[in-house]
Amino acid sequence: MTELIPAPRSVVAGQGEVRLTAHSRIHAEHGTEGVGHWLRTALWQVTGLPLREGREPDDTDEDGIGLRLDPARGPEEYRLVSDRHGVLIEGGGAAGVFRGAQTLRQLLGPDAFRRAPVRRDRTWTVPYVTVEDSPRFRWRGLMLDVARHFMPKDGVLRYLDLMAAHKLNVLHLHLTDDQGWRVEIRRYPKLTETGSWRARTKIGHRASPLWDDRPHGGHYTQDDIREIVAYAAERHISVVPEIDVPGHSQAAIAAYPELGNSDVVDTASLTVWDTWGINPNVLAPTDTTLRFYEGVLEEVLELFPADAGPFSPFVHIGGDECLKEQWRASDTAQKQIGNLGLPDEEALQSWFIGHFDQWLAARGRRLIGWDEILEGGLAPGAAVSSWRGYSGGVAAARAGHDVVMCPQQWVYLDYRQDAGPEEPVPIGYVRTLEDVYRFEPVPSELTGEEAARVLGTQANVWTEVMEDQERVDYQTFPRLAALAEVAWSDLPAPAGRDFAGFERRMSAHYRRLDALGVAYRPPTGPLPWQRRPGVLGRPIDGPPPNL
Ligand code: ACM
Repeated sequence: MTELIPAPRSVVAGQGEVRLTAHSRIHAEHGTEGVGHWLRTALWQVTGLPLREGREPDDTDEDGIGLRLDPARGPEEYRLVSDRHGVLIEGGGAAGVFRGAQTLRQLLGPDAFRRAPVRRDRTWTVPYVTVEDSPRFRWRGLMLDVARHFMPKDGVLRYLDLMAAHKLNVLHLHLTDDQGWRVEIRRYPKLTETGSWRARTKIGHRASPLWDDRPHGGHYTQDDIREIVAYAAERHISVVPEIDVPGHSQAAIAAYPELGNSDVVDTASLTVWDTWGINPNVLAPTDTTLRFYEGVLEEVLELFPADAGPFSPFVHIGGDECLKEQWRASDTAQKQIGNLGLPDEEALQSWFIGHFDQWLAARGRRLIGWDEILEGGLAPGAAVSSWRGYSGGVAAARAGHDVVMCPQQWVYLDYRQDAGPEEPVPIGYVRTLEDVYRFEPVPSELTGEEAARVLGTQANVWTEVMEDQERVDYQTFPRLAALAEVAWSDLPAPAGRDFAGFERRMSAHYRRLDALGVAYRPPTGPLPWQRRPGVLGRPIDGPPPNL
């Protein structure tokens, strides 16, 4: 029963068990009421027990659950004690109590992850145990690309529940890209009217001859976003929105052609992109474009308030893979380079990013972007998502910036999980469950002070070849469980990690994922309906470079 994932810092098993009964109460002390509400709802629906509100801490008797703050602990640290006095979870903050409540749910067994009782006569027990626990990293994230394939709002809420079950605390939402704009902006309605759907979609890698001729689209209304942010906050998850500039912007240009380099291409004839790759149609580096995106970001700041979670001040502005060929050919862009006294197009990109760095900082917010944004220097508060290996993150940490380590070689979950021919639409290098388990977010070349700049890590789920929730589940699980343990648990250096022990605990965890309805990749390989025979991928042989 104590096959916990992610592994806690310490678990001491006792002899005996707490039995939840019709008399059991949940007592949530001051400051933990929100967690109490979550726990009561989750346990009430699955056990059918009334789990009434306790009035006094001792009211919980021997079969109750107490929740309490203990200011001597860190914000996400908790201690869970299950003994003859019942279950007591004490956390440094409500977030710590919430993480402890997730441990309690795992201790109750896999059926605790269902949404209604499957048997009325069963007993619910928590083994006597003392768990002491705290996270290794503050930022434990998942990036969902809802732009390439839209994930409807319910799917996002479901992913927040899945993240909570794994003690993850940052959802990075990739809201805009060439293939779709997914957030309502009242000031610019065409961003979603035009930009949120495409007429058809390439099936598989861009070299594939196949098309899905159904229109694809969807977006979150502003109230959908508010609901997602609030639902995340109840689970002590911060949502970091990404508005990707100045590349990855064809959907915005299709909606507002003046945003593109209209002196080089006929931007009025551009549509939302229907295939994959790095797109040359980037934003025009003009003051008009800056004003437009300030308008977008003003609404984004309202929708994602800074006080919704510890990482809510962050706004991700992308900054990756901006091809410069149109800027080289554009008189407007060249004039801008001249006016600003810049040496070249790379410096122009820095100017563009730097503008939003200062703009966000002036509003009490922090910019985060892909590691390309380092080229040219950043304001002190800006942070970097290191995706092209570790090097961007190392350079950022040395320059005094905070870093989220998410190197593609380790934690890009669009990459295939096995070398076998049955992997659906295989992309990139083979990255197995064990590979992710052996990922180390802090490279050894960093000094202690530099290493402290590594806020944490996240897995990135790019959805070009994931057309629906089942495909996202398949690529994301079980590897997200390994990432969660890397991010939360105090694991030894990669070579010394007990992967066999993790796999043993995973056999219990698969039962939890089953109860949650997650369409993970089974250890034995894809089920027949998880395969995509005949759809071209782009597997790359051999180990990833620059490890
Ligand atoms: C990225 O994968 N282009 C951040």
